[in-house]
Amino acid sequence: MAARLAAASAALALALVGMCCAAGPATALGMNWGTQATHPLPPKAVVQVLQDNGIKKVKLFDTDPAAMSALAGTGIEVMVAIPNNMLADLADDAGKAKDWVKRNVRRYDFDGGVTIKYVAVGNEPFLESYNGSFINVTFPALENIQNALNNAGIGDRIKATVPLNADVYNSPKNNQVPSAGRFRADIAGLMTDMVKFLAKNNAPFTVNIYPFLSLYLNDNFPLDYAFFDGGATPVNDNGVLYTNVFDANFDTLVAALKAVGHGDLPIVVGEVGWPTDGDKHAKASYAERFYAGLLKRLAANTGTPARPNQYTEVYLFGLVDEDAKSVAPGSFERHWGVLRYDGQPKFAMDLAGQGRNTMLVPAKGVKYLPRAWCALNPNAKDLGKLGANIDYACTFADCTPLGYGSTCNGMDVAGNASYAFNAYYQVQNQKDEACDFQGLALPTETDPSTATCNFTIQIQTGAAAMASLGARSAGAAALVLALLQLLAMW
Ligand SMILES: *[C@@H]1O[C@H](CO)[C@@H](O)[C@H](O)[C@H]1NC(C)=O
Ligand SMILES: *[C@@H]1O[C@H](CO)[C@@H](O)[C@H](O)[C@H]1NC(C)=O
Ligand SMILES: *[C@@H]1O[C@H](CO)[C@@H](O)[C@H](O)[C@H]1NC(C)=O
Ligand SMILES: *[C@@H]1O[C@H](CO)[C@@H](O)[C@H](O)[C@H]1NC(C)=O
Repeated sequence: MAARLAAASAALALALVGMCCAAGPATALGMNWGTQATHPLPPKAVVQVLQDNGIKKVKLFDTDPAAMSALAGTGIEVMVAIPNNMLADLADDAGKAKDWVKRNVRRYDFDGGVTIKYVAVGNEPFLESYNGSFINVTFPALENIQNALNNAGIGDRIKATVPLNADVYNSPKNNQVPSAGRFRADIAGLMTDMVKFLAKNNAPFTVNIYPFLSLYLNDNFPLDYAFFDGGATPVNDNGVLYTNVFDANFDTLVAALKAVGHGDLPIVVGEVGWPTDGDKHAKASYAERFYAGLLKRLAANTGTPARPNQYTEVYLFGLVDEDAKSVAPGSFERHWGVLRYDGQPKFAMDLAGQGRNTMLVPAKGVKYLPRAWCALNPNAKDLGKLGANIDYACTFADCTPLGYGSTCNGMDVAGNASYAFNAYYQVQNQKDEACDFQGLALPTETDPSTATCNFTIQIQTGAAAMASLGARSAGAAALVLALLQLLAMW
C-alpha cells in the first residue's frame, strides 16, 4: 500500500516539475502554513495549493492531525512545531518529550506517511516582549526532544531546532556592522550552550528575519535598504558593502555564531516575508517588490557576503492571511499571506525567481458563503450606540483594514460601521442574528466594496466546503487516515 502511495506521489512530483518551475533551486523553497484564522482553508486545499505551486517544504506551528494527514504521502518535507506553552512540561520531564515524539513524529514516520525533517521547539521563545517567560525552559526542552529523537533512532534524519527572532543577536550601538554581531548580552551564555548542542547534533540554527519590521519600528530606516534592488546607501563593513538589511541581518548572526566557535553552523531562515495591509508600509506593491528581489537571489543561490554563493534554506511567511492572529505586534499581523484568506494570490510573484510577471496558482475548490453583506441600516436612528457596536464587532472580527495606512482607511463613519458589521457577520457565517447590532445593521446583496477596500465574503469551512476537491483524492486520503489511526493506537 505504502509503496503504491509513494509511487503515486513520485509521479505527481514529476508531473509538477514539468508543469511548474523546472527543476531550479526554487523547488527547495519552503512556506509557512499558519492556521490562526476564523475560516482556515481546508488542509487538503492547502496541500494542493502547495503542490500546484511546486513548494516542497512546509513549516507548521503545531502538529494538527488534519494537516498531517493531508501532507501524508505527498513527499513535502515538513517542520512540525511545539508551541511555547508546552515547553515547560517538555523541559521538566524527558518522559514527556519521549511521549511527544512518539505521538507527533513517530506516528507519522513511515513510508507513505509525513516526511518530517525538523521539529521546531517553541516559536521565537526569547522575544524580549515575553519578559523571559521561556528563557529557562527552551534549551532543556530542545535537549529532551533531540535526545528522544536520537533514542528512537531517527535523530540522524529529524533534527530539533528553535526558530528564534532576530532580536537574539545584534551589533554594538557604536559599531553597527554585521561582522561585530554577538548574541544578546542577557542570553549570551544560554545561546552559546544552545549553539553547541545544535552543532553536536548536526541541527541547524533557525532564525526569522523581517526587513519589514526594521521599517515598521524605525521611521528613519532607509526604505530602499529593506529591499534588494539597490538605491540605498550601502553599509560599509571593513570594505564589504551591504545594500540590504536581510544580508546584514543574516551576517550579523554568522558573526555571532563565529564568536562562539561555530561560524559554519547551518542557518535556516524560518520566516521571511512582507505583509500587505495594516500599516502604511504593509502594501501589496512593497510585498511584490520584496519577494521579487528575494526570490531572484534565492533562485541564483547568491548567498550573503559572509556565506556567498550557496543555497539558503528559506521558509516564506506565510501562505495565507490569518484573521484571528493577535495584533499585539501590529495590525499587519493578519496580512502576511502571499495568498488571501481564500487562497487567491494578491500580487505577481514568480517563485522560480526568474522575474516573470506571473501569479501563484490559486487554491482550488474553495466554496464561499452566499453573496451577502451586512451594512449600516440607512434608516438607523439611534447612532449614539454606533461606537459600542463597532467595538463589539471588531473584538470578534478583523477590522485592521480600517486603520491608518490600511486599505479601508479614510471612509466616513457609515463606511467604518458597515465594514465592522460585515466583518462580524461573515465571521458568524452570515447568521441572521449577526447582522442586527441593536437595529443599526441590515443585510444587503449590494457589495459595499470600494476600489481599494474589500468587504469580504467568508469561505465555507467544514466537511461541505471541500466536497468537490475531496472526491478526487478521497481514496488515497482515506487509506492514509486509516493507517494513521492504526498507528495512533500503537
Ligand atoms: C511583559 O511586561 C510588560 C511590562 O511589565 C507587560 O505589559 C506585558 O504584559 C508582559 N508580557 C508578558 C508576555 O508577560
Ligand atoms: C530562570 O532561572 C533564573 C535562575 O535560576 C531565575 O532567577 C529566574 O527567575 C528564572 N526565570 C523564570 C521566568 O522562571
Ligand atoms: C474609522 O475607523 C478608523 C479605525 O478605527 C478610525 O481611525 C477612523 O477615525 C474612523 N473614521 C471615522 C470617520 O470615524
Ligand atoms: C476583493 O475581493 C474579490 C473577491 O471577493 C477579489 O476578486 C478582488 O481581487 C479583491 N480586491 C482587492 C482590492 O483586494
